[in-house]
Amino acid sequence: METTERPLPERVAAAQRHAAETGFAGSCIPEVGRLLTLAAAAKPEGVIAESGTGVGVGTAWLHAGLGANARLVTVEHDPDRAARAAALFPDDPRVEFLVGDWRLLESHAPFDVFFCDGGGKREDPERVVDLLAPGGLLILDDFTPPLTWPPVHDGEIDALRLFYLGHPRLTATEVMTTPGSSAVLATRLP
Ligand SMILES: C[S@@+](CC[C@H](N)C(=O)[O-])C[C@H]1O[C@@H](n2cnc3c(N)ncnc32)[C@H](O)[C@@H]1O
Repeated sequence: METTERPLPERVAAAQRHAAETGFAGSCIPEVGRLLTLAAAAKPEGVIAESGTGVGVGTAWLHAGLGANARLVTVEHDPDRAARAAALFPDDPRVEFLVGDWRLLESHAPFDVFFCDGGGKREDPERVVDLLAPGGLLILDDFTPPLTWPPVHDGEIDALRLFYLGHPRLTATEVMTTPGSSAVLATRLP
């Protein structure tokens, strides 16, 4: 569990303030954020993508690991949220904000890191896999901890989670991010 004393990257803290001011409760938690920073840093020349910018918390975590030759593209269909997030990055040409449906990301693929957090994950999971580069990392948060196999959500077998964990083009695992939440991490096979 993330301690509240560990300092946050400056832009993450600023984005969290935006989230609090606007009552936006969908931002990723710091435990996931640290994974995002690590994933971005692992691909120093990579194309890093995020679907669902929200107000920029996840974007700021990805940005904290962004290499000098990497680029980060994020998409949000709510223009007010997108504008708030973009205001945090007035000075970094490596970061691009798209406003509209998550499919706008497609022209920037293949992705070396894809934080699929708003659009795609549920609607078109096969397309999400298609958009990954070989060796590309996929991060999906907001799952509930896996207590059984196969995993169950709301009393039903969690077919979406099984899709990602068992996909033949992925090697995937699930990690606990807090005692009450988990994330699926996957890499696309060559
Ligand atoms: C969970 S929040 C994103 C949080 C953000 N990634 C973070 O970690 O701070 C999901 C966001 O995705 C946006 N969204 C949902 N469906 C979308 C779609 N089809 N295309 C673009 N954005 C979408 C929502 O408006 C919302 O702001």
